[in-house]
Parts: sequence; structure tokens; C-alpha cells
Amino acid sequence: MSLSTTTPIVDARDLTRIYPLGDSEVVGLNRVSLTIAPGELVVLKGNSGSGKSTLLSLLAGLDEPSAGTLTVAGYDLLNVSESEKNSYRREVVGMIFQAFNLLPTMTVMENVCLPALLAGKACAPTADRARELLDWLDMDTRRDHRPAQLSGGEMQRTAIARALINDPALILADEPTGNLDSRNGGRVIELLQELNRRWRRTVIIATHSNLADPCATHQVCLKDGAINDSTCAP
Ligand SMILES: Nc1ncnc2c1ncn2[C@@H]1O[C@H](COP(=O)(O)OP(=O)(O)O)[C@@H](O)[C@H]1O
Ligand SMILES: [Mg+2]
Repeated sequence: MSLSTTTPIVDARDLTRIYPLGDSEVVGLNRVSLTIAPGELVVLKGNSGSGKSTLLSLLAGLDEPSAGTLTVAGYDLLNVSESEKNSYRREVVGMIFQAFNLLPTMTVMENVCLPALLAGKACAPTADRARELLDWLDMDTRRDHRPAQLSGGEMQRTAIARALINDPALILADEPTGNLDSRNGGRVIELLQELNRRWRRTVIIATHSNLADPCATHQVCLKDGAINDSTCAP
């Protein structure tokens, strides 16, 4: 007998992150268990301080849990070598932040290409892929601009291209519309939805806003670092 189940792309068990703070400690995440199937678009909700960024940082391999287990795209993140974790961070996940996090001295093209060049990819195909992504994002006339010459929406679209340059399976967006007006915020959510629907990428969006609700395949609600689905209720 075979039970047909899809292997989850994210499998977290009792994931816990405690931040030491002087003589005391702050609970960032408290025994979160969660599975996400490939192709989902998950909206991660919760008030400020509920643990959304902590969870995304653990998923991105940017932080280490205090307890629990975490497997993403086949990488057992508590038991991988440092070099495997580096390639995981560069090639399996793409991260988008509220504050865009672009390098101010580099052009749009240079910002977008950097993660691919750091991963050892050749310049010419990387530049071709960056141009394709920037065309798709309506940024083709902005390739040689520096971040200070862009609007907020353009900065976030540059950050989306950078997150996609290494073709990640999992896209993590931490309050991606937090610094944008509603029109540009709506555009960013539409692009994330297109990545999910058309390109079959798994997307997790942490957000206070309701803009992403209509395109979510699942909502996960956090309260005080734990999953609490009743907090999602409108
Ligand atoms: N580096 C840190 N050091 C100490 N406490 C932290 C740190 N990062 C987050 N926290 C705490 O962990 C909890 C969850 O924070 P966070 O994940 O940033 O929540 P959210 O993204 O939902 O606003 C909060 O109480 C926050 O103050
Ligand atoms: Mg946050």
C-alpha cells in the first residue's frame, strides 16, 4: 500500500528560540511545529513581537534554534556543515526584507547579480538572468541606477530580483510591504503571488497587513512565539 504524501519543503518540530538577555531571557519562538508543502503561499500573521521575524530567520538559516528540529528542502539545518549551510542560504532560500537591504554603492544590476557571483556563477549568464528578472519587474530602465535614485517600490522590486537570482525553491518575505504605500505594497504582493502560482515557488510572507490574505493557501498565526490560530480571526 502506498500513501501518497508530498514531502514537505518545511518541516519544523518544537522549534524554539530563546534569546539570552543579561541574567534573564526572552522567548522569541516557543515550540513551533509546522509543515509546509511545496507550492504553498503561507501568510504568517501575528502582532509585533509575536515571533514572525524569528521564525523567518531560522528558516533562512540566518539564526540557530535553541531547541527543536528543522528540515528545509531536504537540509537538516541543525546538522549541516557550515559550507552546506552557506550554499543553503545562497541557493535554496531567497529573502526579502521590509528595509530592502540593498547595497547603496552598487547599481541595481550589481545588487541583483551579487548573490550569484558570490555563489561562484559565471558573469555572462548571471547578467542575462538579471536582465530577464528586471524586465519582468518593469525595472529595465533602472538597471544602472543606485538605490538612492529609486522609489520604495523600485527598491523592493530590485530586492525581489536579487532574491530570485539563484533560483531559490523557497522565498521568505519579512514585512515586504511595511515601507511601501498601498499601491506599491499591492504590486509586491501580486508579484509574490505570481511567483507562487506561475513559477510554483513556495512563498512565506510575514505581515501585519491584510493585503496578502486573498492569495494565501494557508495562514499561520503566532502569538507570544507560539502558533495560535484563533489570533488570525478577523
Ligand atoms: N536579537 C534579539 N535579542 C533579544 N530579543 C529578541 C531578539 N530578536 C527578537 N527578540 C524578541 O523576540 C520576540 C519575537 O520577536 P520578533 O521575532 O522580532 O517578532 P515579530 O517579527 O513578530 O515582530 C520579541 O519579544 C522580541 O523582543
Ligand atoms: Mg518582525
